[in-house]
Amino acid sequence: MANNTVTIIDNRTGKKFDFPILLPTIGQSVVDISDFYKDTGMFTFDRGFTSTASCRSRITYIDGAKGKLMYRGYDISYLANKKTYLDAAYLLLHKDLPTKQQYDAFSYELKKRSFIHEGMKKLFDAFPDNAHPMAILSSAVAALSTFYFDSLDMDTPEEVIEMAHRIIAKIPTIAAFSYRYSNGLPVIYPDLDKGFTENFLYMLRGYPHHHVELSPIEVEALDTIFTLHADHEQNASTTAVRVVASTHAHPYAAISAGIGALWGRAHGGANESVIRQLEMIGTIDNVEKFIKKAKDKNDPFRLMGFGHRVYKNFDPRAKILKKLRDQLVDELDIDSELIAVANKIEQIALSDEYFVSRNLYPNIDFYSGLILEALKIPKEMFAVIFVIGRTPGWIAQWIELKEQPDMKIARPRQLYLGPNERTPE
Ligand code: ACO
Repeated sequence: MANNTVTIIDNRTGKKFDFPILLPTIGQSVVDISDFYKDTGMFTFDRGFTSTASCRSRITYIDGAKGKLMYRGYDISYLANKKTYLDAAYLLLHKDLPTKQQYDAFSYELKKRSFIHEGMKKLFDAFPDNAHPMAILSSAVAALSTFYFDSLDMDTPEEVIEMAHRIIAKIPTIAAFSYRYSNGLPVIYPDLDKGFTENFLYMLRGYPHHHVELSPIEVEALDTIFTLHADHEQNASTTAVRVVASTHAHPYAAISAGIGALWGRAHGGANESVIRQLEMIGTIDNVEKFIKKAKDKNDPFRLMGFGHRVYKNFDPRAKILKKLRDQLVDELDIDSELIAVANKIEQIALSDEYFVSRNLYPNIDFYSGLILEALKIPKEMFAVIFVIGRTPGWIAQWIELKEQPDMKIARPRQLYLGPNERTPE
């Protein structure tokens, strides 16, 4: 017992409190402080949750020091190199990789549900020109609930899976429609003869009655990007999804909140910011100047695409994308000046004491932006691509939370530093 507890001593009173240590399958042990307030009368303080495990989970494992990522026990490089995005999505939802038959049935289910209600087009119409697709997407996902009002309360696992399929299938269509509307372009309906990723690219690029040439290499690259984004344990947007789900709000509201959280440039908005920053830096001659700005404590400038809360080593997803980007340089017309600037930044940052001592490695967004740019995906769609990839992860986390019998509403406390009670005049 003595080895399985942590003792905290209140130096003011000398009182001792024992808290149990929970053991994981792999990774860090966790001190269970659920009774901390009850026992000590105090709260714990953890800015940005850097030391807090907010839930028990069996979905995704990250070893930040080693740069390792697994979905349901499968290494990300195996999934990215040998499997498709639909394999990864199925794995997250169903806890195992699909057989050929299960894969085909899953793919068929998603195709069948990829159309959205015609009434939703009025919603897209209401947004002004140039509305950011992320704004339209989060509104449209929340609005989707109004079309499925009768199935918001799910009593059986079959109903839950139906909801999961519906959201995963419709988000790419909503995403493509968001882009088309915000640019005044005709919307392109899903093509049931195309696979998940190919169909999304087709809806983004196509024109009515016009054949669109999509090269297999483009489809494969985007499919890999989707796989690499499919889940990432308790990151900010997943935590937002779980917090909303903990109030018993329906999954459409939870996913819509996740989209909002993902939009920020410290999270999924970073890939758009990376490209904008590389374009701003412009030439390799300017790189040193911006590295200096990034290191200056008095300058809010940060090198976008560097650093990660969990990875203190190379992000394994970034490693895969770096290789993919290098493969694509010749095959897709990747802007060589941007690549040169990116390479110079990477080379300096990987050897500069400031970045090395803080373990600031390139993250997934540093490379995904360049690949998406080469795939001719507009910058404002970069975070949307992240959303499409992440949706199965969010839903798997939503399902897991709902399946836990001791699930509680997420309701943290605070260290109050405001005024004491004031006497009214
Ligand atoms: N450029 C310059 N300095 C940085 C950077 C950066 N990109 N990132 C962190 N630092 C510095 C901080 O100034 C801080 O320095 P200090 O110890 O001297 O005060 C130290 O490194 C630690 O940084 P924190 O902000 O405390 O780290 P945190 O874990 O809270 O933040 C984050 C992680 C948000 C990703 C941060 O590294 C960042 O802003 N990076 C740029 C944005 C980005 O690329 N986001 C994408 C993340 S990946 C994803 O969401 C898919």
